[in-house]
Amino acid sequence: MYQVHSVAPHLLPQLLREMPKAELHIHIEGSLEPELIFALAQRNGVTLPYANVEALRAAYAFTNLQSFLDIYYAGASVLLHEQDFYDMAWAYLQRAAADHVVHAEIFFDPQTHTERGVPMATVINGLHRACVDAQATLGVSAQLILCFLRHLSEEAALQTFNEALPFKTKFIGVGLDSSEVGHPPEKFQKVFALAHAHGLHLVAHAGEEGPPAYMWSALDVLHVERIDHGVQAVHDATLMARLAKDRTPLTVCPLSNQKLCVFPDLKDHNIGQLLDAGLCVTLNSDDPAYFGGYLNDNFLQTFAATGLTAQQAYVLASNSFEASFVPEVQKNQWLHALKQTFQKFADQD
Ligand code: HPA
Ligand code: ZN
Repeated sequence: MYQVHSVAPHLLPQLLREMPKAELHIHIEGSLEPELIFALAQRNGVTLPYANVEALRAAYAFTNLQSFLDIYYAGASVLLHEQDFYDMAWAYLQRAAADHVVHAEIFFDPQTHTERGVPMATVINGLHRACVDAQATLGVSAQLILCFLRHLSEEAALQTFNEALPFKTKFIGVGLDSSEVGHPPEKFQKVFALAHAHGLHLVAHAGEEGPPAYMWSALDVLHVERIDHGVQAVHDATLMARLAKDRTPLTVCPLSNQKLCVFPDLKDHNIGQLLDAGLCVTLNSDDPAYFGGYLNDNFLQTFAATGLTAQQAYVLASNSFEASFVPEVQKNQWLHALKQTFQKFADQD
C-alpha cells in the first residue's frame, strides 16, 4: 500500500476536495434539487403537493429509509421528457466535476418512470446523452446502472429488464434499491441471473437497514460484485472476514446514513471500523439533493466528525478506483493522478 507522507491537518480539507475520486453510489433521481423539481414541474405542467421550494425542503426531515423514499418518488414525478432526464443528469455531472469526481457509476430507477407511462427510451436516452457529453465537455467518465425497485415483484423486474434490453449498450450493470426490510435479495434471483447471462455487472443495496443475512444472499444468491451500503456487516464477524478476504467493495454513504437515522450522529458512523477491518470501503453521496451534500461534502463532514486520516483518504479514493467497473489501465492512470495529488500536499508540509 502506498504510504502517505504526513499532511498538515489544516491542509486535509483541501486535499479531500482536490483528490481525484470515483463515485459509485449515486441515485440520479436523488440528485434532483428542489429548484430543478419546481422548474421541471412548471415546464411540464405538473402540480406538486408542496407550495414552493422552501416548503419542499422543509419536508426533508426523515426518520428512516421509507420516510425518504415517499418524498423521493414524489420529486421524480416531474420527469416526463428526454430533456428532463438529460437536465437532471447534467446538473449532477457538473457538480461531480467540481468535486474532482473523474468517474461516476450512476443508478437510475426506470420503474419509477415507466409506471407513470414514461417510455424506457426517454429515460435511458436522456441520461445516456448527458453521460456522453460529460466525457466530452467535463472530462468526467460516466456510466449507468439500472436498478430494480425491490418493493415491486420479480415479474415486474423481469419485464423492466426486457424493456431495457434494446438499450443494453447504454448501461453497464443492474442493481437493487428501494425499501429493503421485507424484500430480501433472493426475491430477485432470476432477473440477476438473466442480467449476468447478458454480461452485465451486478450490485445490490444490502445491510443499509436490513440484516447481515441480506448481505449473505446478495453475495451467494445474486452473486453481486459490490454491496451498496453494507454498514450492518459489523454485526457478523464471519461476514466481515469474507468481505475482507474477497475485497468485496462496500459503497458507504455517511450523510445518507445520518439523515435516515441509521446512526444517531455522523460521529457514530462505523466507516472507521470497516476500514480498520481491511474492507474495500468507498465513500459516496447516495441522494445528494436530499441528504445535504455531494461527494466532497460527504468527505469533509465525515472526516471532521470521525477523525479519519490522510492515509484513510488515500485508501478511500484508491478503493473507489479499484471497485469501479473500468479497465485496469484506466484505474492505473487515475491511481497515478491520485498519488501526484498526495505528493503535492506532502511537499507543502
Ligand atoms: N436505499 C434504498 N433505495 C434507495 C436509496 C437508498 O439509500 N436511495 C434511493 N433509493
Ligand atoms: Zn442508495
